[in-house]
Amino acid sequence: MGKDVIIACDFASRDQTLQFLDRFQDKKPFVKIGMELYYAEGPQIVRDIKARGHQIFLDLKLHDIPNTVEKAMRVLSNLQVDMVNLHATGGRMMMEAALRGLTKPDGTRPLLIAVTQLTSTTQEVMEQELLIHGKLEDVVLSYAKNARDAGLDGVVCSPWEAGIVHEHVGVGFVTVTPGVRFADGDAGDQKRIATPEKANEIGSDYIVVGRPITQASNPEEAYRRCFHEFCG
Ligand code: C5P
Repeated sequence: MGKDVIIACDFASRDQTLQFLDRFQDKKPFVKIGMELYYAEGPQIVRDIKARGHQIFLDLKLHDIPNTVEKAMRVLSNLQVDMVNLHATGGRMMMEAALRGLTKPDGTRPLLIAVTQLTSTTQEVMEQELLIHGKLEDVVLSYAKNARDAGLDGVVCSPWEAGIVHEHVGVGFVTVTPGVRFADGDAGDQKRIATPEKANEIGSDYIVVGRPITQASNPEEAYRRCFHEFCG
């Protein structure tokens, strides 16, 4: 597993997405397909982007009872994606069921990653709205340990937590980190943010970058800058 920059293709249509991806002629970036695009276009958009040679992180953040998640993952396993995810708050049984659903008869499967606390969530929101009273880092660590114990490959967390996850959960346990912004960029709705350089320093394996690339006046240049700052 190598370090990489994953572009969050949060677009509303196939045309917009493919037009955007057409800009990247030299290197096919690792692409994240999230709810907006998947709900708009369905599974065919995944096949189309895969056919163009991109690696795909399908970010649908499943969270339901174990049986439902297992069956949904079985369907997603046919899409040949490279990474999928769910919410760790669904619990160990749900994560184990997801893993069963995702594993093909030949034993292969994409990476399965658990969202810990969203990078738009703050300590205050966690305490006052979600009634979770631990320190945010401890909550992320505890969810990461549950995910590891359920057999998952890694977590989605903020870059700031990537170091402690590797230290306490395992160096090979993958950290996928959104909430990435250039030093001169706009945070938007993200709260726990870091620059690509800082994310690398702390130890993220993959950074997920959306608007700083998709909304840039020159997206290829923003991607190259991101890649250079993160991967060196
Ligand atoms: O535009 P931006 O760089 O904020 O995009 C971040 C992407 O990562 C979005 O697609 C968002 O859904 C996703 N994400 C996140 N925080 C998580 C999990 C996923 O921001 N914890």
